[in-house]
Amino acid sequence: MNAPANPHRFVSATSLMSFARRVGRVRQVSAGRIEADGPFATVGEFCSIEADDGAAPMLAEVVAVGDERVVLMPLGYARAVAPDARVTAVGHSGSAPVGHGVAGRLVSALGAPLDGRGEIFADEHRPIEGCVLEPLMRKEPDHVLETGLRVIDGLLPLGRGQRTGVFAASGVGKTTLMRQLAVQTDADKVVVCLVGERGKEVEGFWRAIQSMGAPQRFSMVAATSDMSAVLRARSVLQALCLCEFWRDQGQDVLLVIDSVTRAAMAMREIGLAAGAPPTVRAYTPNRGAIRRWTLRAAFRDRQSG
Ligand SMILES: Nc1ncnc2c1ncn2[C@@H]1O[C@H](COP(=O)(O)OP(=O)(O)OP(=O)(O)O)[C@@H](O)[C@H]1O
Ligand SMILES: [Mg+2]
Repeated sequence: MNAPANPHRFVSATSLMSFARRVGRVRQVSAGRIEADGPFATVGEFCSIEADDGAAPMLAEVVAVGDERVVLMPLGYARAVAPDARVTAVGHSGSAPVGHGVAGRLVSALGAPLDGRGEIFADEHRPIEGCVLEPLMRKEPDHVLETGLRVIDGLLPLGRGQRTGVFAASGVGKTTLMRQLAVQTDADKVVVCLVGERGKEVEGFWRAIQSMGAPQRFSMVAATSDMSAVLRARSVLQALCLCEFWRDQGQDVLLVIDSVTRAAMAMREIGLAAGAPPTVRAYTPNRGAIRRWTLRAAFRDRQSG
């Protein structure tokens, strides 16, 4: 075996590695929330929890840590988890797969294919926390965005790089309007993120954008209402990373999130499970992340244009 070319780099790399398995034991299980006495882990880290019925271990995300206590939320249905089940830290999944391979595809919150069209090959993995442009680096919208909807283009024109919300009571046509925006707007790439919708709505939206031709223009990220709050919240981060990838390639990207309210509800579920105090409408302080998400999605870079 050849010796490493630069032994110092090898030594410094090994100093960052963990050679010990980090494990703990389940101490309490309640609806969507698992408490364990370990492992030593940080918030956002994934752990695998062994199932009592011999089935494959279940993945869960660490949502809170305290003195000898870790709170986890399962990524799937929390079945057959018994007290004393082994919890093993498997590390952060702090990056999202992005790239041209995702163009024209329907993916899950973790970037896995949901459209039955085979594996997706990512060009790169982007850190899910992304970055927000400094205030002075943000470019004001200076070009009109044509939506193809005369009532918007005529009375409430939008600009490229702008973010806007569609606010209305339930069942009055928000999703229908956003579907029209997604298929008609003049953008190089359109990323649709469906958070907490029913499967039927995902199918309807997907068929609408498939029928438009130019399938490579559209990508969709979906985490339906039956999925865990962790995945519903994460779907927005996957969509943001996709948008940022194409934005950095100089493309105009339209991001449609349906809905930010349901993403906030997912954040509330996570916050309450983590033991955060409920505030207005029982929303927990972690919903502040949504403000950051909207800042990531908007604005073009003054330097790159
Ligand atoms: N302009 C319109 N004219 C007539 N019917 C419409 C119009 N827009 C939407 N609808 C109908 O209204 C119903 C509800 O629409 P949609 O699902 O878009 O509402 P929503 O505001 O997204 O609801 P929710 O708050 O539950 O997400 C659908 O059956 C849709 O076909
Ligand atoms: Mg809707």
